[in-house]
Amino acid sequence: MMTFKYSNSVPKSNENATADILKAASDPKVISFAGGLPAAELFPVEQMKAASDKVFDLYGQEVLQYASTLGYLGLRKEIVKMMKERAVETSVDNIAVTTGSQQAIDLVARMLINPGDVVITEDPTYLAAIDVFKSYGAEMVGVPMDEDGIKTDALAETVKKYPEAKFIYTIPNFQNPTGRTMAIERRKELIKIANEADLPVLEDDPYGAIRYAGEFLPSLKHFDTEGRVIYLSSFSKILAPGMRLGWIVASQDFMAKFALLEQNADLHADNLAQYVVAQFLQDVDVTEHIKKITDVYEHRATLMLQEIDKQFPKNVHHSIPQGEIFIWVEVPGVDTKQLFDECIKHDVAFVPGSAFFTNEEQPGTFRMNFSNMNDEQIVEGVKRMGAAIKAVQN
Ligand SMILES: Cc1ncc(COP(=O)(O)O)c(C=O)c1O
Repeated sequence: MMTFKYSNSVPKSNENATADILKAASDPKVISFAGGLPAAELFPVEQMKAASDKVFDLYGQEVLQYASTLGYLGLRKEIVKMMKERAVETSVDNIAVTTGSQQAIDLVARMLINPGDVVITEDPTYLAAIDVFKSYGAEMVGVPMDEDGIKTDALAETVKKYPEAKFIYTIPNFQNPTGRTMAIERRKELIKIANEADLPVLEDDPYGAIRYAGEFLPSLKHFDTEGRVIYLSSFSKILAPGMRLGWIVASQDFMAKFALLEQNADLHADNLAQYVVAQFLQDVDVTEHIKKITDVYEHRATLMLQEIDKQFPKNVHHSIPQGEIFIWVEVPGVDTKQLFDECIKHDVAFVPGSAFFTNEEQPGTFRMNFSNMNDEQIVEGVKRMGAAIKAVQN
């Protein structure tokens, strides 16, 4: 058999603890709080079908043709409007549509990282971003967080220690995995630190539109006066992840280079999907659609928090999300991998915290997701987890 000589971007081993965890969690009899899937019953199937029919009637062959790398102009115009609602003034020339925001993370990493470069992130952070940055040879440096997001005093220290760092990667809204939101003062402080150190900021915001508590907070991009924030968002959480559409907003200089790399990667995001989403945004009251999602997630978050308070031991600490789909739990003195094995015996799953740390793991932490489980599953699953925690604590 052929033995391939893989590049350095391919992980050395086939072992992937997180993949194993998600596989165990995907057994249909398991109540899974492990993944991060949106609630499928909220996908606007009929409206998307209507938008799709209309697009074929109106544009016919055009939607099936190769198209512009930066994306369908009609969709980029809709994104300009959405960005305005997010307190960011921008133009179609600053925007590219990507194959999910995951592709934008990959392309930005490819644009900025040479092997050995330092990338500064929140610790813990989004697993698939860590994997991408590492695949380009980045050295990851994590900055601790608290309930108000990244600790900016620690960030300032880190930036001083690594003056050659390539960029700061952050998820200010309802962070994955912690569900925490960066406080407004921290946002301003982060931009100040980045300005002083002349560092780019990669702001990943797939979740910000689904807020059910607290007030709207402007993005880092809003506070950026120097074109240093590269902003990413996505249609995955407000519409449907299977469409694989996301977007990037950045300075026009950056976008010119980005277009070259996107062309190499996939020529352009799915043209048909872009037309359908643009039509959907024109025809449907999106605010109302987002409100529907927000209400369901608020209900599920409230229920899960209430059940955690009831069923978990009293020394457990958890985040209280203001939006979207994750709760971060800290159970002092528990080995969360052992807890995971115990939970799987009881057909319930979560993701142990170790997967999300770039530096030193904070023991006893794990992520729970509630977006894709109904009330009964949430109540029963948290009860089973409570019993498992007590079993491993004894
Ligand atoms: C923080 C974060 N960024 C980016 C993504 C990628 O989303 P998508 O490629 O579906 O837009 C996810 C997916 O869950 C995420 O949690």
